[in-house]
Amino acid sequence: MGKIAIIGGSGFLGSKLLEILSETCPVVGTYKSKEQPGLHKLDITDNKTVENFINKEKPDVVIHTAAMADPNLCEENKEVATNINYIGTKNVVDACRKQGSKLIYISTVYVFDGIIGNYQESDQCNPINFYGKTKLHAEQEALKLADPVILRFDIVYGFNSVKKNNGFFSKIIRGKNAEVNSDQKRQPLLVDDVCNAIKVILERNHSGVYHLAGSENIIKYELGLALERIVRNKSELIPIPEKQQIARRPKDVSLNTSKAKSGGIMFHSISEGVELIREQYEGSCAQ
Ligand SMILES: NC(=O)c1ccc[n+]([C@@H]2O[C@H](COP(=O)([O-])OP(=O)(O)OC[C@H]3O[C@@H](n4cnc5c(N)ncnc54)[C@H](OP(=O)(O)O)[C@@H]3O)[C@@H](O)[C@H]2O)c1
Repeated sequence: MGKIAIIGGSGFLGSKLLEILSETCPVVGTYKSKEQPGLHKLDITDNKTVENFINKEKPDVVIHTAAMADPNLCEENKEVATNINYIGTKNVVDACRKQGSKLIYISTVYVFDGIIGNYQESDQCNPINFYGKTKLHAEQEALKLADPVILRFDIVYGFNSVKKNNGFFSKIIRGKNAEVNSDQKRQPLLVDDVCNAIKVILERNHSGVYHLAGSENIIKYELGLALERIVRNKSELIPIPEKQQIARRPKDVSLNTSKAKSGGIMFHSISEGVELIREQYEGSCAQ
């Protein structure tokens, strides 16, 4: 697979990618504000710094996970969201082009408007919130490269360690007053499955757009309750309907994953994913 650079190595997905991919190849990672041992500081909104980093590290593959990934924050901070999600990605794309690195860009289901559901990779994009718009513009930049990979998915769940970013599960662990959507079906994807998908894509030299998703649809609040049973018996989560959220959410952004599956990519069920997280969490707490 050669040398891999993970932009956003301090984030939820980036941390898991660092852990799993470094078992098989040399990996470097970056952080922006949450300093971590072994990671390089990098702000993707600064094009010279991005170019210098890629030029110095000379990665064969760049996995770009860095983003302002909260749709509500993006809606309230449009200029910052544009700078990080679109301009930042353009800077990463330009640096990959100059170095000849293969880019894997992490996108989202929010590039779709949610009207038809069961989206295939070739379906028309039409984002209805600002986060989705910035990610679609970023995809369009990535697609200007020779053989980019673009991965789209819905909510990712999983566990790194008690001291690290655990995405949605961190919110569950914190508990107190955690508000979780209670009226929209989601298609959760285990973070370990994203890493395994990337391994398959690199081993088989795939390129293009891929939809990744767990096989089941579930309301986020129900997923939250299943995960919460790992950490406490009495629920502290607060269910909230979609209309109370700042950014509009598309109604049905379920993904068709036939292309990924026929390319050798596999997905865990939610019950398998929750059990794996239980083992990882209990192992981490026991250390
Ligand atoms: N989590 C999900 O459910 C989900 C679903 C669909 C798609 N995605 C996509 O998956 C990717 C990873 O999501 P995530 O949940 O892992 O996000 P995350 O935990 O919020 O991590 C974001 C990462 O981006 C870095 N970052 C932020 N601004 C930066 C900047 N200006 N320059 C360089 N790095 C910067 C952060 O660094 P610091 O923390 O050090 O500041 C962090 O490493 C994102 O592209 C997101 O859009 C996520």
